[in-house]
Parts: sequence; structure tokens; C-alpha cells
Amino acid sequence: MRTPLIAGNWKMNLLRDEARSLSEAIAATAKEADGVEVLLCPPFPLLDTVRRTIDAGPVALGAQNVHNEPSGAFTGEVSAAMLADTGCEYVIVGHSERRQYFGETDATVRHKANAALEAGLTPIICVGETLDEREDGSTPKVVERQISGALERLKPEDVRRIVIAYEPVWAIGTGKTATPETAQEVHALIRGWLKREYGGAIADTIRILYGGSMKPANAEELLAERDIDGGLVGGASLKADDFSAIIRAAL
Ligand code: PGA
Repeated sequence: MRTPLIAGNWKMNLLRDEARSLSEAIAATAKEADGVEVLLCPPFPLLDTVRRTIDAGPVALGAQNVHNEPSGAFTGEVSAAMLADTGCEYVIVGHSERRQYFGETDATVRHKANAALEAGLTPIICVGETLDEREDGSTPKVVERQISGALERLKPEDVRRIVIAYEPVWAIGTGKTATPETAQEVHALIRGWLKREYGGAIADTIRILYGGSMKPANAEELLAERDIDGGLVGGASLKADDFSAIIRAAL
């Protein structure tokens, strides 16, 4: 049985006061949502503010990015140990915005995922095709390349700890959501790949989240699909009512 995970990716939004009131509201919803794991991923400067607000409650804390080196002369970067020390349990790696605007490759994603695992964090590894790739029929090839590139050389006991997020690039921030059937098809493909590589026991443990314009109006039908184990929510995670409704849809 996989516990559904509803994760809010705040991206580069909010200041401390807003972060405090939003996380307070989400903490209250999460208390009533036994059986759903709730995660907030604010920008780095808000991590401590959110941690203090959700302290001792059921909401988990995560970051949106991490550097792969443990320490050293990497101006502007943040290590996995620093995130763990700040109270993070999760970190998003390989988000399509990082791949698109910051040149992250499958190898970068693999190194970051490794660094996260070594520091005891759970990496949420993001994959997903662009509109061109979907239209020319290369979705399976692209997604398998991204997953195998990210997991290559990981030990099976580490693979067991990861979370995968399928986020079709054409659905992120566009208001266009994949239909539940379209999303389920790719989720099943990912689970099938994991099963071939690591066996059924591991494949059945790994949570695969859907991301891309998830909102209260479509969350329930997406989350009802067999291989959709939660959501990575951008825009709708910035509104307490919308994000709370998505959490309840996962119940
Ligand atoms: P969106 O973003 O919900 O605003 O589409 C999802 C994401 O990028 O993680």
C-alpha cells in the first residue's frame, strides 16, 4: 500500500509572512487528512520559516533544488546536508524548469539524486516530455531515458527510497492537464520499467506523482488512477483553499 503524497512546489514565490500563513492553513488541513502525506517545498530562504510553522505537525518539508557536491567553493549553491540540517526530508530534482532554464541533464539529475540519498533525503525525481516529443510519439522513449539516466548505478536499496514525479512539460503552468488516462498510461510505463529493472517488490513501493496543472477540479479523477500516487502541485499549492481541496481529494 503506497501512502499518497501531495507536494506543494512553491517555485520562486511568497515572502515570509505569506509563507507563514499559507503553511499554517495547510498544517491545519493536514491534521485532518490522516492517510495522506503532505509536503511543502518553499524556496530556500523560507525553509526555516515554514519549518517553524509546521513544527511537530504532520507536514513534511522539502527543497526545490540541491547541489551534488557535499561542500566547497560553489558560490550560490546549497548542499544536501544543509537541507537535512534545516529540517528537510525531501528535495525536488530535475524539475523541467531546471532542465530548461539551468541546463540540467540526466547526469546532473543523477548526481543530485545521489547526493540527496547520501544525506538521508528523499529525492523527488521529475521526468516528462515536451509537447513536440508527445506529438511525435516519443513520450515513452524520453521518459525511459530520463528515468534510466537518473537511476543508473543507484543501489536497489536506494532506489526503493525515491519518489518519481511525471510532469508533462506541456501541462506545467499552462492550465492544460493530462487526462487521467493519458497520465495513467505513462505512470504504468514508468512502473513497468521499474519492475523490469528492480523487480516487483521495489516497483510497487515507489510513489509516482503526477504534476502539471493539478487543481481541485481534476485532482480526484487523476488520483483515482491505479499508478498515480499523489501530486506535485505548483500554482494551486499557493492557495490554501485549492491545495487543501487537493489534499482532501487524495483521502
Ligand atoms: P503547475 O506546476 O501545477 O503550476 O502546473 C507543477 C510543477 O511544475 O511542479
